[in-house]
Amino acid sequence: MSKQHQALIIGASRGIGLGLSQELHHRGWAVSATRRQSVGADTYPAITWLTLDINNEQQSTAFGQLLQPGQYDVILINAGVQGPERQSASSATPEELLSLFMTNTFSPIRLANLVLDAVKPGTGILAFTSSKLASLNENTQADMPLYSASKSALNMLTRALLPETDSRGLTLLSLHPGWVQTDMGGAQAPLTVEESVKGLANVLESYQGKGGHHFVDYTSTPLTW
Ligand SMILES: NC(=O)c1ccc[n+]([C@@H]2O[C@H](COP(=O)([O-])OP(=O)(O)OC[C@H]3O[C@@H](n4cnc5c(N)ncnc54)[C@H](OP(=O)(O)O)[C@@H]3O)[C@@H](O)[C@H]2O)c1
Repeated sequence: MSKQHQALIIGASRGIGLGLSQELHHRGWAVSATRRQSVGADTYPAITWLTLDINNEQQSTAFGQLLQPGQYDVILINAGVQGPERQSASSATPEELLSLFMTNTFSPIRLANLVLDAVKPGTGILAFTSSKLASLNENTQADMPLYSASKSALNMLTRALLPETDSRGLTLLSLHPGWVQTDMGGAQAPLTVEESVKGLANVLESYQGKGGHHFVDYTSTPLTW
């Protein structure tokens, strides 16, 4: 009998993170997931809920220490924010800029270093929810420039993890979930959460053991950086 796969989804209170946690559970995975607020025992009880604000340094350090070495086949750092309404480096306040880049760029990478030991050596995946908007080739008009820049920077800092993940035989993924109907994506987005997360789950299942760093969307199509 094959051993049950284990996933940890960071930032799963709603939207894509919650949907993917449920999708992997339906596929037979054991799923742990995080929210900023602790939840009652009746909230999706099939999922093991942990509490984490990725911008809380102390909490993140303690969180990393809780995890068992090599426990997870997949750790996905999915938490993210859209940032200020006025997407201009000149109009946004310094506090808004710092908050955006802390949440979308620096905290995910700092957390990754704290949880890296918990990814299964050889076949495990460390993944980040990025965006196609991060790519200069795919986002030629610089739509949503501040948000997009925060994800471009995330992709670059993810690449900087490659020597460490390579030495452990891990696969690094920067994922584009599509434009999805969530609080962030809005009702006009073409994709439902269900459509996006089925695709993302397929990507996670098919990239185990591949190695390297891949920028790929929910249909498994590689994206240009
Ligand atoms: N929707 C799209 O079309 C789209 C497209 C490309 C990429 N993405 C990316 O996909 C990811 C998920 O987006 P979504 O559409 O599902 O957005 P969402 O519905 O707004 O959900 C965002 C999630 O991130 C969590 N989060 C935010 N800041 C956090 C923090 N400091 N610590 C821990 N958790 C935090 C939120 O938790 P709370 O409930 O506590 O706020 C929530 O669970 C994001 O990284 C986003 O940039 C989305």
